Amino acid sequence: MKKVLLTLLVTLPVAAWSASASNWPMEEFEGDLQNLPSLQNGFKLYANYCLGCHGLQFQRYERTADDLGIPHDLAMKNLVFTDQKIGDLMTTSMPKEASKAWFGAAPPDLTMVTRVREPDWVYNYLKTFYVDENRPLGVNNKVFANVGMPNVLLDLQGVQREVCTDGVCDQLVLEAGTGAMTAAEFDSAIYDLTNFLYYVSEPARLERQRTGVFVLLFLIILGSFTYLLNREYWKDIEH
Ligand code: HEC
Repeated sequence: MKKVLLTLLVTLPVAAWSASASNWPMEEFEGDLQNLPSLQNGFKLYANYCLGCHGLQFQRYERTADDLGIPHDLAMKNLVFTDQKIGDLMTTSMPKEASKAWFGAAPPDLTMVTRVREPDWVYNYLKTFYVDENRPLGVNNKVFANVGMPNVLLDLQGVQREVCTDGVCDQLVLEAGTGAMTAAEFDSAIYDLTNFLYYVSEPARLERQRTGVFVLLFLIILGSFTYLLNREYWKDIEH
């Protein structure tokens, strides 16, 4: 009985959540915390395009730079645009109340966004902004209908429009030559940005993975010695 109740408690909210989600054909995202160049590029993109509105209130510049192998002076010069110090939390100075009036909603802190939403959700969200003249900012999104966020990556991606067949609008096409990046370059940038947010949601995961490799190496070495020792012991007994 307890088990049934537990199963219900777990599955019902998930079912409700997926029913309310959009029916956009989601592309899969697989995070890779061993890929430091990707995480570094994600950090750079985040600092340049997102941090102005979205803080990362539990994340310090220093820890981020250390985890991602970026020297402090480089981080200060290229990634900290405010008068904040390397030991500071990556907060934003975006005023909450005013931004609500500007965008219809205040930009939320994104430290936990890949856990509150799925990393796949964030990846698809960032790729599916499209032109919609009916919205106040002229932009809409395929996985977050009627979103208040402006399309801040428009210059990189270019202009995307939706295509509908028989009333079903499940396709987006890019107007060639309108963005600074090719479609493949943009995909890769969004991968890095999502990967960075995936790291931020649990920085300890990166450390754990690194420690895990050492633990495995240690076990392999220990195992080899134990095996050799074992062979040595039995040699004399069997013959
Ligand atoms: C000009 C301000 C602004 C910038 C810059 C900005 N955003 Fe947003 N963002 C918003 C606002 C406002 C919302 C809330 C939209 C809503 O609730 O309708 C939002 C929502 C989001 C959400 C959805 C959060 C949730 O769970 O509801 C994500 C994810 C996100 N932004 C990611 C980003 C990323 C990544 C960047 C950088 C590429 C970025 N944003 C840049 C204003 C901004």
